[in-house]
Amino acid sequence: MPIKKILVTGANGQLGWSLSQLTTQYPSFEFIFADKSMFDLSKPALFESLIQKIAPQIIINTAAYTAVDKAETEKDLSVLVNTSAVVELARVAKLHDIVLITFSTDYVFNGLAKTPYLTETKREPVNFYGETKANGEALALEVNPHIIIIRTSWVFSSHGNNFFKTMCRLMKERASLNIVSDQIGRPTYAHDLAKATMQMIVAIQQGKPLKGIYHYANQGVTSWFEFAQKIKQNAGLSCDIFPIVTSQFPTPAKRPAYSVLDTQKIEQELGLEIPHWEASLLDCQKKLAEQNII
Ligand SMILES: NC(=O)c1ccc[n+]([C@@H]2O[C@H](COP(=O)([O-])OP(=O)(O)OC[C@H]3O[C@@H](n4cnc5c(N)ncnc54)[C@H](OP(=O)(O)O)[C@@H]3O)[C@@H](O)[C@H]2O)c1
Repeated sequence: MPIKKILVTGANGQLGWSLSQLTTQYPSFEFIFADKSMFDLSKPALFESLIQKIAPQIIINTAAYTAVDKAETEKDLSVLVNTSAVVELARVAKLHDIVLITFSTDYVFNGLAKTPYLTETKREPVNFYGETKANGEALALEVNPHIIIIRTSWVFSSHGNNFFKTMCRLMKERASLNIVSDQIGRPTYAHDLAKATMQMIVAIQQGKPLKGIYHYANQGVTSWFEFAQKIKQNAGLSCDIFPIVTSQFPTPAKRPAYSVLDTQKIEQELGLEIPHWEASLLDCQKKLAEQNII
């Protein structure tokens, strides 16, 4: 079988970088990792010629405008990157028969549910970033119903910027921290999500008819406060952590109280066993320790 070429956008992000760590396990694919300088999502007019030049059979779009609070004011750019660019990728993918996998967020929901969000639950974005992602999903699927959208939540890794790394730093700098305890969700280790994405691509290559929306997050539900406590415990740090409520920590963009994604569809269709977030957190902290960061 000829080697398939995979274009990965957002090469320096958490997910893009995690995918780059897996390439040796997938010798039957050629990976092209593109950062913003090589593939800028704010320039959709250039996509078709760029993609024709690279000639991938598969595109994994991990790039996104992820500055959730800044999106409330930097609206044009966040719409361009999270909505217009995804629609154009979907159009070009359809035109050139390319498999497109792109990512979305738990913030497409309102955060008011009491039971996990299904892939078909109505979109009702909790903030402007969520709106840009929700519109990107809906419009891209209209243009090309064969694309795959994986919604995820609370992504962490030993690379890039995320809650886990911020906590590791702050717990060493400060004697105490106040952490929100009334927002509930499922943390996602970027490495696990990268692995699931590759499993999905292998399944597609084997002829599985996968398309539409999927949810992926690690097993287990927690709060930011409990997440921080576990990070502290694993790292053996002594910082005091106190629970606070959301109203004590105002942010420009509203955050959902309940953000739990139901992942049964991806588990069943791919036969996936998703690791528990606590096991994945331990793995991630080991990786950081190996890099002498913690
Ligand atoms: N992080 C989370 O907690 C979370 C939660 C739910 C869903 N998601 C979704 O999951 C996917 C992967 O997220 P992640 O955690 O890997 O995000 P990330 O670490 O913030 O990485 C995003 C990457 O996109 C790049 N990017 C931003 N603007 C770009 C542009 N105009 N052109 C090209 N690249 C651009 C960034 O580059 P620069 O750094 O150079 O700007 C960065 O490397 C995204 O779709 C995100 O929306 C993430």
